[in-house]
Amino acid sequence: MRLKQGIRLHSLLPEGYDAVFINSGTSPYQEQVLAEVDFQDWHFTPLFEDDAYLPKKDWRKMNPQEASIICSKTTRKDYNTIFTGYIPEELQDTIRQLGLEQSQNREEVMQKFRDHPATVQQLNTKMQQFLTTVADNKPFHFHCIAANLPNLEMVACDITRLRENFTVPEKRYIGLHNDGTQFMTLHTTHKAGNRITINLGKQSRIFYFVNLTMIQALNMLAKKIDVKEQGINIHNVSAHFFKHYPEYPVIKFIQQPYQYYIAPTDNCFHDGSTLGNTVLDINMVYFGTFRC
Ligand SMILES: [Fe+2]
Repeated sequence: MRLKQGIRLHSLLPEGYDAVFINSGTSPYQEQVLAEVDFQDWHFTPLFEDDAYLPKKDWRKMNPQEASIICSKTTRKDYNTIFTGYIPEELQDTIRQLGLEQSQNREEVMQKFRDHPATVQQLNTKMQQFLTTVADNKPFHFHCIAANLPNLEMVACDITRLRENFTVPEKRYIGLHNDGTQFMTLHTTHKAGNRITINLGKQSRIFYFVNLTMIQALNMLAKKIDVKEQGINIHNVSAHFFKHYPEYPVIKFIQQPYQYYIAPTDNCFHDGSTLGNTVLDINMVYFGTFRC
């Protein structure tokens, strides 16, 4: 299926759009050969929610027509653009001093922050300075530092659905999804701002997205089903969309260490991945209304 004009990617990277790929769509996780996690004491095949959809693995470079639909133009808004670039060298140097790359798990990552209070203070100052340059005069706030096992097909899971004291292999990944909260509807997610995710790990990581806004996805679904009768909302739109449009392409972007991406994750289907990695994935997330 052909790409529609929708969410675009704005690359400030020296390599431009070389790290961007496209595929032929999605399929239910049950139809895919799933990668196994084999790291330290972890040896398991990740579980998925019943209605999880994953990108197909037939990745290729975009053709010129696809590139003209994905690559950004001059009118770049927070809700219709994904931005990517490197954080400043000075900020990279400060983060390097923490030695996070050697961490084997999230606890070790957090311990390194606790062990280096002066460096963390410097990091905070430089991070605030950098974020101010992309914050579009809007407020922003720290969300989390996340760590993911290597070679995970997808990284997002809804831990509220799990039992207390769940173990890592019990996590059920949700596949391509839109974030959203109870305070949003499919018609308001474009007003929700976006996030910046910075890769603090030793290896690259993957960001997948579908270049459609929630309103576009809803309008496409309305051509196939009665969206009112079926009660389509921010919680079930992804499963319905991928069921009815399995041939709509997914875009893959490879995010190198110290690169950031800014994405309206409430307003588009997306997920991260550590497929092919061999060490811990570490990333830092802020919420705001970023633009560059
Ligand atoms: Fe997400």
